[in-house]
Amino acid sequence: MRKKVIAGNWKMYNAPSKAVSFVNQIKDKIDTDKSDVVLCVPYISLQPVMDALKGTRVSVGAQNMHYKDEGAVTGEISGAMLKEMGVPYVIIGHSERRAGFNETDTGVNLKTIKALSLGLKPIVCVGESLKQRKEGITNDLLRRQTTIALYGISNGDAEKIIIAYEPIWAIGTGMAATSADAEEACATIRETVAGIYDRETADAIRILYGGSVTADNAPELFAQPNVDGGLVGGASLKPDFERVVNFDGK
Ligand code: 13P
Repeated sequence: MRKKVIAGNWKMYNAPSKAVSFVNQIKDKIDTDKSDVVLCVPYISLQPVMDALKGTRVSVGAQNMHYKDEGAVTGEISGAMLKEMGVPYVIIGHSERRAGFNETDTGVNLKTIKALSLGLKPIVCVGESLKQRKEGITNDLLRRQTTIALYGISNGDAEKIIIAYEPIWAIGTGMAATSADAEEACATIRETVAGIYDRETADAIRILYGGSVTADNAPELFAQPNVDGGLVGGASLKPDFERVVNFDGK
């Protein structure tokens, strides 16, 4: 039985003071028995949020990392630096980074390998544009993105990766994928993993859905057999996030 993961992606919101007051508002209402709960916050809010979450089982993650440990790379933060801070999770290859910062599938692969070698848990994002969906190439694209992201990674390490299926057209639009479409895409990703490795690895890896998840649509989306939780943007910035995390109403 795979444990669900509910990860909030705050994107470029919540500088330290706002971040800490928000976390203090919700932290005691979050159920971490059924799901691993992660808040992926801006770099400068990582330490304050980690401090505010002490004594809870809610984790933090970064939203990106550089694959080199250090170097003359102005404005970047390395996985090694995150590791030193004790940050457990890191999002890799979010579509906003692919689109806005020219991140490629091979770059995603390099970062994923590095994150795993450091003991960080990567949340690797894949997903199609509306054009690609209309062209009927969604499943091919997901197979390609997944295969390249996992290239050269052993099955023991692959199990530690979380893959987030985030259709670009569903991000921030209020137009979530239907539960059937989310299930089909996540199943395609799982079958791709089975093809690269084996059934055991495919059954162990956790695959999330992201894109306009709300407290209202989370129960149905997360109930799909191949959807192991969500990567949640806008709704993770509101007190309602507690309802997304406690999605089965218990
Ligand atoms: P929204 O939930 O705001 O659509 O964002 C999804 C997302 O990009 C999470 O990484």
